[in-house]
Amino acid sequence: MSLGICLPCILALLSLPNLNGIHAIEIKPNTNITAGSNSTWKSPLGDFEFGFHELPNGLFLVGIWFGRIKGRTLVWYHGPPVGQNYKIQFTSAGQLIVANPDGTTAQNIFITGNGDAAAATSAYMQDDGNFVIMDSNLSHVWQSFNSPTNTILPGQTLQSNQILYSKGKGLSNYSTGNFMLHMLENGNLDLRSYLWSGPAYWYISTSTLNVSLVFNATTALMHLVSGTRITYSLSNNTPTPVKDYYHRATIDENGNFQQYAYHKRNGTEWRRVWRAVEDPCRVNAICGVYGLCTSPDNELVKCECIPGYIPLDHQDVSKGCQPPSVFNYCEKTSFKLQVFEDTDFQFDTNFARITKVDLEGCKKAVMNDCNIVAATYDASTSTCAKKRLPLLNARNSSSSKGQIALLKFANDVESKIPKKKNSFNVRIFLKVMLAVTATLAGFFGALAVYYHPFTQRLTRRKKKHMESCQDVEDSEDDDLVLSNLVLRCVVSKKLELLVRHDSEVLNDFKRFEEMALVGLWCVHPNPALRPSMKVVMQMLDGAVEVGVPPLVYDMMMANESL
Ligand SMILES: *[C@@H]1O[C@H](CO)[C@@H](O)[C@H](O)[C@H]1NC(C)=O
Ligand SMILES: *[C@@H]1O[C@H](CO)[C@@H](O)[C@H](O)[C@H]1NC(C)=O
Ligand SMILES: *[C@@H]1O[C@H](CO)[C@@H](O)[C@H](O)[C@H]1NC(C)=O
Ligand SMILES: *[C@@H]1O[C@H](CO)[C@@H](O)[C@H](O)[C@H]1NC(C)=O
Ligand SMILES: *[C@@H]1O[C@H](CO)[C@@H](O)[C@H](O)[C@H]1NC(C)=O
Ligand SMILES: *[C@@H]1O[C@H](CO)[C@@H](O)[C@H](O)[C@H]1NC(C)=O
Ligand SMILES: *[C@@H]1O[C@H](CO)[C@@H](O)[C@H](O)[C@H]1NC(C)=O
Ligand SMILES: *[C@@H]1O[C@H](CO)[C@@H](O)[C@H](O)[C@H]1NC(C)=O
Repeated sequence: MSLGICLPCILALLSLPNLNGIHAIEIKPNTNITAGSNSTWKSPLGDFEFGFHELPNGLFLVGIWFGRIKGRTLVWYHGPPVGQNYKIQFTSAGQLIVANPDGTTAQNIFITGNGDAAAATSAYMQDDGNFVIMDSNLSHVWQSFNSPTNTILPGQTLQSNQILYSKGKGLSNYSTGNFMLHMLENGNLDLRSYLWSGPAYWYISTSTLNVSLVFNATTALMHLVSGTRITYSLSNNTPTPVKDYYHRATIDENGNFQQYAYHKRNGTEWRRVWRAVEDPCRVNAICGVYGLCTSPDNELVKCECIPGYIPLDHQDVSKGCQPPSVFNYCEKTSFKLQVFEDTDFQFDTNFARITKVDLEGCKKAVMNDCNIVAATYDASTSTCAKKRLPLLNARNSSSSKGQIALLKFANDVESKIPKKKNSFNVRIFLKVMLAVTATLAGFFGALAVYYHPFTQRLTRRKKKHMESCQDVEDSEDDDLVLSNLVLRCVVSKKLELLVRHDSEVLNDFKRFEEMALVGLWCVHPNPALRPSMKVVMQMLDGAVEVGVPPLVYDMMMANESL
């Protein structure tokens, strides 16, 4: 078996040009690979292959993988997957495309500009895992190392502004997942939830401009480098001699960024040598809203609902949960306080903190404040942190040891059935809004319309190009930007972008933001969760803390990943 692989590479070593010290097999223009044929473009030693990777669902994904280890580990890919008889073509014009079975172009991987770019005349799958396209002077015109997906390899650099995205969950799913590793222009390297625009759950701050993440090919260690100076070392250890191992660093489906090694001859699996996040439950939104993350071994992640809450999707609890009903603790006295040992609720948005208090005091504070549903008590600092709704990042894991989570529960199960007369009337609300200011009323009117299922179906198609709150700027004329986008902006605290041309609103922005949230509660797709008029008035008075509505939050996540 090994003879079959090695004979061609020995021939290649003898007969082909030596590029930057890396021997390579030339791929000439007008060459192609057919999906389903098993043919690939191999690197000289066979360490990497470029071709179609067959997915369990029978489709084929253009990718690069380790050629000599069992199990496919893709280091680069280009989607979406295609069917049998599609072709990867390095065309006579020096472009790299995916062609339909009839020969027309299906996807562009690399195409030269309008005559100004140097024409590509050769391509190489290198033994370092980089696929390069060159002009007649052997200058790179394109390389896979400059368009990373979820992995970097030794010799590869994540430049300022470049991003690695995790893949989707599941074997066949190479669409963009939920997390990203971002080398920011300001010199920070951070991990954050891509879809939720939440805060970074892991970061290295260098306070230096023009920093890049270098995966050093000699040492197989990762550093943050400014110019030639190492400003921070991520990994410090990897098995040696370095050349006896394959190495890679990948942001995985669960949002961790980890470095692995695999022994070239004796290896049977990838061994982790470094990871960014020690407690996998610290990954933001890993179990969705009202989800509870447990990880007894600090490796596996298990998502459940916070006790008493209901999964949004019984097939996949990690999508989050919802309360059985919205219970107004200011109107009822029949509730109990449940205590969860070694458990913490979200780590970023504390509503209010009480210091120098014991557990009993914390319990009392939660019981007596009808606007508060949850809190975490930290005995080591004697602090009681009241939490905002919806509850996010509840966890029982290594980093929540010693914390005590407190949560209110309704005793009265009957109250789960929403009473018609109490459910909120959008029209009345709009009238109230109209009285406040015309601008805001217009805003909510629009919001109500956009939340109508019919408009949602219409707008869903138009949303494709609006990936994040920043994109609002590019879609000025497209006024169907509300609903989910508002939510996203609220969540990422970028609501200003939506109203940035309206100085009147900007002047009282805090209040506008609150109202936007109240509006989102009032047009909640689940009528049972809409607050009563009385609660709305309390929300507007500032007597009740207004959080982001549950479910809508999740819906945003589900819709935007289409
Ligand atoms: C694909 O490659 C084969 C031989 O390698 C060649 O005969 C054929 O013309 C190519 N097809 C296209 C569409 O480039
Ligand atoms: C591709 O390889 C698989 C596994 O070795 C084999 O079963 C299949 O017949 C091959 N397909 C073609 C078209 O050669
Ligand atoms: C190759 O280099 C020569 C000399 O520097 C230059 O004149 C020519 O334009 C280059 N060709 C390409 C394709 O860049
Ligand atoms: C693939 O992953 C994305 C992102 O996690 C998800 O939204 C999508 O539903 C997944 N697709 C399938 C077919 O599971
Ligand atoms: C990689 O590490 C070696 C040895 O420490 C060093 O000489 C080299 O400059 C480093 N390369 C890069 C690109 O930082
Ligand atoms: C950033 O660093 C790269 C490589 O070290 C260099 O080529 C580039 O000019 C630098 N950019 C700035 C703005 O300093
Ligand atoms: C690999 O296997 C060889 C022979 O079985 C053994 O001598 C060597 O120590 C092994 N290397 C590693 C790193 O396990
Ligand atoms: C948290 O985890 C520990 C250890 O797995 C377990 O003993 C404890 O009951 C858990 N607490 C809750 C509230 O689930």
